[in-house]
Amino acid sequence: MEKGEDSSTFKMGNSAPGPAQKIIGPCAMSLPYVPDCYVVPPSCEPCDSNSEIVPTIDVSRLKGGDDERRGVIRELSLACQHLGFFQIVNHGINQNILDDALEVARRFFELPAKEKKKFMSNDVYAPVRYSTSLKDGLDKIQFWRIFLKHYAHPLHRWIHLWPENPPGYREKMGKFCEEVKELSIEIMGAITESLGLGRDYLSSRMDENGMQVMTVNCYPPCPDPETALGLPPHSDYSCITILLQNLAGLKIFDPMAHGGSGRWVAVPEVTGVLKVHIGDHVEVLSNGLYKSIVHKVTLNEENTRISLASLHSLGMDDKMSVPCELVTDENPVRYKESSFKDFLDFLVKNDISQGDRFIDTLRIKD
Ligand code: OGA
Ligand code: NI
Repeated sequence: MEKGEDSSTFKMGNSAPGPAQKIIGPCAMSLPYVPDCYVVPPSCEPCDSNSEIVPTIDVSRLKGGDDERRGVIRELSLACQHLGFFQIVNHGINQNILDDALEVARRFFELPAKEKKKFMSNDVYAPVRYSTSLKDGLDKIQFWRIFLKHYAHPLHRWIHLWPENPPGYREKMGKFCEEVKELSIEIMGAITESLGLGRDYLSSRMDENGMQVMTVNCYPPCPDPETALGLPPHSDYSCITILLQNLAGLKIFDPMAHGGSGRWVAVPEVTGVLKVHIGDHVEVLSNGLYKSIVHKVTLNEENTRISLASLHSLGMDDKMSVPCELVTDENPVRYKESSFKDFLDFLVKNDISQGDRFIDTLRIKD
């Protein structure tokens, strides 16, 4: 983080910083201590770093023969039922494209404050916005994260709104977005096929009209990494989220572990591997068979962590509902329909940092 970042818009109150003052925003993350408003209650839930728990799927086999494709779809279905999370290898995106996207992201966060401030906004409906925490200034607890979010599909509709600096940002991030979008269509095709709905069940609604929100996250080094979090436990509203990171820090919650009491699992970083999160809208699509994964981000003392989370969903007002093909007398509809816009409305009124989850508002009680 740049030294002397102008913090004026972020400080609450008007006296010199003292223990009672809330110091938030990018400036807070260059302090040599963790301000009180970032301190999270200590977690007593166990955490494992057993990487074998995280399924790894070779998605190149989706383009193979029928038997090969069926094999991948079986693996994917199990991963979606048990965890709602898997890693993918042989996904076809060139390592240079991944490295370049991480590099322009890193360089964006190193720009002078006045350059980044052009994009600063707390309006969750804005197609491009730069901010910190979840809803900075409004969250009860602040999170040790700076982010830039921008819509990315169709690229020509949004790219002119993206940062022009650092040079190459639009080109390199744009290339990454296009490739990840294509991959998301392939994976969603496999997911709908695994549910018996066919490969093209959502393809036109996701491709031509679907949303892609690229969340570019920066987690600066934290002087006391155990006391704060990069992001609190949450699930994504999306159908799927495809994640690229430069360093480990992502933790996923395995709800079946320890006889159903659950445990956190540290996701290892392996170069070139992408992570896929099942989001709330695939939980709805599967009528609860597939689970949206609860995840959080932990911090470290030495290095800046950058992650690119690409969230893929139906169009802004297109409602995801439980397909009639999956409903029987024994298996009634378990979720209300909802759109991306409904999620944004939820975000305005609720506090994710307090554990509010969009999916909980969709569940139909028996
Ligand atoms: C997110 C998210 C995880 C990460 O942006 O929703 O969960 O590793 N990010 O940054
Ligand atoms: Ni997330």
